[in-house]
Amino acid sequence: MSFVKFLGIGSAVPEKILSNLDLEKMIDTSDEWILSRTGIAERRIVEPEVATSDLAYEASIKALEDASMDPEDIDGIVVGTITPDYIFPSTACVLQSLLGANNAFAFDVLAGCSGFIYALHVAKGLIQGGGSKNLLVVGAETVSKIMNYEDRTTCILFGDGAGAAVITTSDTPGILSSCLGANGDGGEFLYMPAGGSRMPTSEETLKNGSHFLRMEGKEVFKEAVKALQSSTLEAIKLADITPDDIDLLIPHQANYRIIEAVRKRLKLPEEKVFSNLDRYGNTSSASVPIALDEAVKSSRLKRGDIVVFSAFGAGFTWGASVVRWQ
Ligand code: COA
Repeated sequence: MSFVKFLGIGSAVPEKILSNLDLEKMIDTSDEWILSRTGIAERRIVEPEVATSDLAYEASIKALEDASMDPEDIDGIVVGTITPDYIFPSTACVLQSLLGANNAFAFDVLAGCSGFIYALHVAKGLIQGGGSKNLLVVGAETVSKIMNYEDRTTCILFGDGAGAAVITTSDTPGILSSCLGANGDGGEFLYMPAGGSRMPTSEETLKNGSHFLRMEGKEVFKEAVKALQSSTLEAIKLADITPDDIDLLIPHQANYRIIEAVRKRLKLPEEKVFSNLDRYGNTSSASVPIALDEAVKSSRLKRGDIVVFSAFGAGFTWGASVVRWQ
């Protein structure tokens, strides 16, 4: 069986900043409350005319350049997102058209904030299964489009962005392990009630805001800490390494207190855990690949390092992956 490695990465965030001070003018909150409870200072928000595929396109072009590849070289596109351009066709198909990636199959993965880790796991399997060589794996979101900016318990947390990676076959191990998990019993704690077949959009759903994201933060918090810890441990066991071997942990960027709790449970020093949460908030599926791109560009992640990705999200879903960076 062939190995799989990363060949290129890229990310994109909108220019417009929504700061805690901006939010103070919109809802009953304070910069101090948001910073101390979440670690978030600001997030990026798209303009109304920008869709998820537009950010995905920008990130993908950069990843393709980084990989020195043309869109035609890509065999398949897998996009993790909870904010697709449409329910159908998939955002991956929209992206395929924007890129002119004429030789690529394309589909979306809907796995909450674990979307990129799920997409990566699936794409790795597609390469190792023998059929594909070069795959584009994307996490892209415009979470601002499903935010209720009158709900102070959710709108302070989320932001928009996209990250993309080109992965390919390799003679030496790149992705050392990858694992996924889910618990559908947790669905009610983080979801968007309306707009699907259970509750199609109606005058009523628009009136009561059922087409916005809803969350019970405390429940999600507890489960996130548990799942991020256990999936990280599972992935490092599968890779036959120990926590001491980790050079950098890139956890899903949801809340600084969640990241800190996981770091302490794994007994990792602060410098081995990457965070850019203060600047982007929770960008859902995009958070791990944006952080990965920044970690590489800032030389926090170097050739030969062991990096671990770990994510948790709506579903509940979770997953982790251990990579020797090449
Ligand atoms: N500004 C000011 N006060 C706020 C507030 C805000 N934006 N949001 C909530 N509050 C208030 C609450 O109403 C509550 O007031 P009360 O005690 O008078 O009822 C108080 O602050 C404490 O609220 P609580 O919900 O206990 O806060 P918390 O410490 O649990 O923090 C979250 C709330 C949402 C920040 C936290 O639960 C969290 O981050 N959860 C995980 C969310 C997440 O990461 N989701 C995505 C996972 S993929």
